[in-house]
Amino acid sequence: GPEVARLVASRVLDVPDFPKPGVVFKDLMPLFADGHVFREVIDGIIAHHGRDSFDMVVGIEARGFVIAAAIAYAAGVGVVPVRKAGKLPRPAYSASYALEYGEATLEVHQDAFTAGHRVLVVDDVLATGGTAEATLDLVERAGGTVAGFTVLLELAFLEGRKRLSPRPVHALLTV
Ligand code: PRP
Ligand code: HPA
Repeated sequence: GPEVARLVASRVLDVPDFPKPGVVFKDLMPLFADGHVFREVIDGIIAHHGRDSFDMVVGIEARGFVIAAAIAYAAGVGVVPVRKAGKLPRPAYSASYALEYGEATLEVHQDAFTAGHRVLVVDDVLATGGTAEATLDLVERAGGTVAGFTVLLELAFLEGRKRLSPRPVHALLTV
């Protein structure tokens, strides 16, 4: 709710011209570094979706890993990484996408899910939505069912939510 949104807002730093001139980078490291806020954020995501609505969590490299692992531990379920190209050791599905500031390929192990796995996908920031679109596609190609997608911070002016439509997107804070 609004209290968690305020907590997120209190722990975001604007970094001008990172990683490129003209980009104002939203840095969430202060949120991860504050144990109280981090716990409230993790518990808020679990409460929003419902503890029994998912049985696997996917985190998107790299900051999504931090969030996904905490949710998985708190909910007593497993965690699956979606990684940048070339990092996974076994056969993987790949999806390429354009980023706000570049291009990248994401991968997931082909055997990451069994049929019926309900997968909660999490990341720190939703910007253009390319990363999320590629990840949701990978989860489904690997046989998972997307139970939800949550980010800590949504940058509304980049219209990632439109790109993901009609899939539901949950953001703790939208700016
Ligand atoms: C950032 C962020 C999201 C993605 C959002 O990750 O953590 O994953 O970009 O951008 P989009 O909505 O425009 O696709 P980044 O690619 O910087 O990777 P990192 O966490 O490994 O630094
Ligand atoms: N912060 C973190 N990740 C991002 C951003 C940002 O401002 N833009 C795109 N990915």
